[in-house]
Amino acid sequence: MIDHGQSAASFISLRGADLRYSSYDVLVVGGGIAGLTAASGAAHRWNVGLITKGTLDQTTTFLAQGGIAAAMSPHDSPELHLNDTLEAGAGLCDDEAVRVLVEEGPARLLELERLGTRFDKRDGKLILGKEGAHSMARVVHAGGDATGSVVASALAEVITVGGRVELHENEFVVDLLMDAGRCVGALSLGEQGELTVSLARSVVLACGGAGQVFAHTTNPLMATGDGHAMAYRAGAVMRDMEFMQFHPTAFYGAENPTLLVTEALRGEGAYLRDDSGERFMVGSHPREELAPRDVVVRHIRRILDRDKTGHVWLDARHLDAQFLQERFPTVYSGLKKRGYDLCEELIPVAPASHYFIGGVLTDTWGRTSVPGLYACGETASTGIHGANRLASNSLLEGLVFGERTVRELNRYLAVADPAVRKVKLDLADEPREGNDPTVVTEGRVTVGETMSDLCGVVRNRDDLEKARQTLDVLQASLAAPGLNVAELELFNLLTVAQHMVVAAARREESRGVHLRSDFPERDDVDWRRHSLIHRDPMTDEVVVGTGAPKG
Ligand code: SIN
Repeated sequence: MIDHGQSAASFISLRGADLRYSSYDVLVVGGGIAGLTAASGAAHRWNVGLITKGTLDQTTTFLAQGGIAAAMSPHDSPELHLNDTLEAGAGLCDDEAVRVLVEEGPARLLELERLGTRFDKRDGKLILGKEGAHSMARVVHAGGDATGSVVASALAEVITVGGRVELHENEFVVDLLMDAGRCVGALSLGEQGELTVSLARSVVLACGGAGQVFAHTTNPLMATGDGHAMAYRAGAVMRDMEFMQFHPTAFYGAENPTLLVTEALRGEGAYLRDDSGERFMVGSHPREELAPRDVVVRHIRRILDRDKTGHVWLDARHLDAQFLQERFPTVYSGLKKRGYDLCEELIPVAPASHYFIGGVLTDTWGRTSVPGLYACGETASTGIHGANRLASNSLLEGLVFGERTVRELNRYLAVADPAVRKVKLDLADEPREGNDPTVVTEGRVTVGETMSDLCGVVRNRDDLEKARQTLDVLQASLAAPGLNVAELELFNLLTVAQHMVVAAARREESRGVHLRSDFPERDDVDWRRHSLIHRDPMTDEVVVGTGAPKG
């Protein structure tokens, strides 16, 4: 945090750096569905800048396959969607936030259609897909399994055409700017190493998740928990950092990221089989392959441990080949490139980190615990996912809470202090050289392998302690970061990994995506509560606590 008049040391040194300046009412960080929604909405009234570390087609949103869950069918209702979300969430959802999500979701989808998004339809009616733990088909999709890219392209066009939003791609936000406890902008690093101080009356963090904390992930390379880490440095309260959702069926291979093999395939009838060909979900859960995602992952883990193999098999061979190619063009061609024919062959799949439930604590209006700082989408913890996210609720979350953040900004900016004109940068004494690039590359591998091996699908006290020590040793071995993206990402990954480990060690129960082999039962007496983390501003230490028990 680059702070005005505070004692915390600068995260980086700016001494001698050439600074540029910009000024906005609203600065949005992140170009996925939540960031695009917030930026396009806020631009109706305010001067808006959007900074994204890559390009708009490199976000996690762009890769999303399954679709957007919403009660759009006459047989469905927000109440049914609410019940499914609460049941999947394993007792830890925030009921009010879920109600907001399911009630406002359908209107947001209709808006997306008005913006030009062409959802898949037959005879003029939406074709609805089914996914795990949904009591009925309610997943709206586009381009078959290309929902994310279709939706993101439509929203990107809104913000780029007409130039209502000042867009900065390939710009990495290094840290938030603070003034007397209020967030007043961000410092960013451009492609040529140039630094920009963006002063802003409000900042919206919509930086996506942190799947790259693990060695195997469906998330793009840029999902390095930057929003989580910078919010934490700025003093924001973080919630439920132990909850990383693993997707049951990522293509089994060494690529980073790995190809998602969408749950919608199981929704259309694909099976999961073990090495002997047995459908191991039959008899394991009444919904078989469409059990809640955490349940499917646990059973896959059981099979992998039993059979000492690295993957199970997804079987779609019994489904119509033409249908598969039309409904799942992304998966079909992605598998073809990797040497597999979805229509004719078994596909090797294994769990991979997919969605970070933990995040910056917000209310249902995107407000964090830091004045002037907002968060939405995967960066935020609104409480809608509880301890296990219902499939296809995340694009919906970005739409609903991105839009609500705009409504709150309209209220806040109407009364907040006028434009921020200056901020004092607290410079470190020496220009920093940072770390050797090889050390940085190796550090990233260490974080990923440590987290996958010791804090993955199944955790226990001893492993978590080993993970804590390994991460601490890594941190101690690193010099303060220099001004380059790879290094800054490593520090963000490390921060998020440390938070995951400390929160996972503290939660002595198994709930949703958090499975402890040493505490295999769910404990509603002691643990039906959120975990909370913040930075002690005096000591710079991580403070871990819990929220009030849920009624
Ligand atoms: C999928 O397509 O399987 C992913 C959907 C989601 O994560 O919500």
